[in-house]
Amino acid sequence: MFARKQVNAAHKKPVAATRSLLGKPSPMSMLRAPYQMPTLPYRRPQQGRDLWIWDDVLPNPLEVRARCLAKSDWTYGFPYRDEGWPGMRAIPALLPEELAPIEAWVKKQTGCQRLWQQPTATGMTLNHNCVQLVGADEADARPHTDSRTNCRFAAVIYLTPELPPDCGTAFYRQRLAGAKLGGNFVPPPHANLQAALGTRFVPPGSFVEDLRVDYRFNRLVMYRADLIHSAIRYVGKTNETKRMAAVFFWHGQ
Ligand SMILES: [Fe+2]
Repeated sequence: MFARKQVNAAHKKPVAATRSLLGKPSPMSMLRAPYQMPTLPYRRPQQGRDLWIWDDVLPNPLEVRARCLAKSDWTYGFPYRDEGWPGMRAIPALLPEELAPIEAWVKKQTGCQRLWQQPTATGMTLNHNCVQLVGADEADARPHTDSRTNCRFAAVIYLTPELPPDCGTAFYRQRLAGAKLGGNFVPPPHANLQAALGTRFVPPGSFVEDLRVDYRFNRLVMYRADLIHSAIRYVGKTNETKRMAAVFFWHGQ
């Protein structure tokens, strides 16, 4: 069961319209016949099986945050460049000695003996142990899954103090015709949600929140990467007030 303090119950509101997946609908997509979204399987997420929460995860969160804020090697995404990801990011977030206890915990929680990152294709970067800074107006919720090719588990550590709880992470399921609810994860052989649905673009309101984890400074949230998820919302106009998160991706066995 989810601790009430940690996870609020379902909110079941349609996701804000325009950029539900990775971009705006193209004019061509609006000319096509109505899109029938394939129905995915559903498994209600359970803490300890599908998602995991560790509060006060870092012994030195303010030090980590200050070190990240002082970075000068940020890569910029939307709206600064034509990218599918928002805000700015830099690697690494944690030092090896800060990451080690987290990976020990991940192994313990998941039963995996070994964690690793898959080599990426030439020119691609896996944003493991990456700090991301995203502000208001730079993005909204974008339900997606993380690539099965890249990872089995994904995690985020929230690193901006005193952000509203609804800047956390939400998990979604499909909203089908007739207000029926569909699935919440992408099964093999599909690598991600886009592949499973056969399109980057889905109609507004195609996903509803199933449950959400509140943003809380120095909270780690780990989840099965094939669950449909998203940051709920972003706030802040300056680097000091934007939503900072360190993100991690692991294969595990
Ligand atoms: Fe993700």
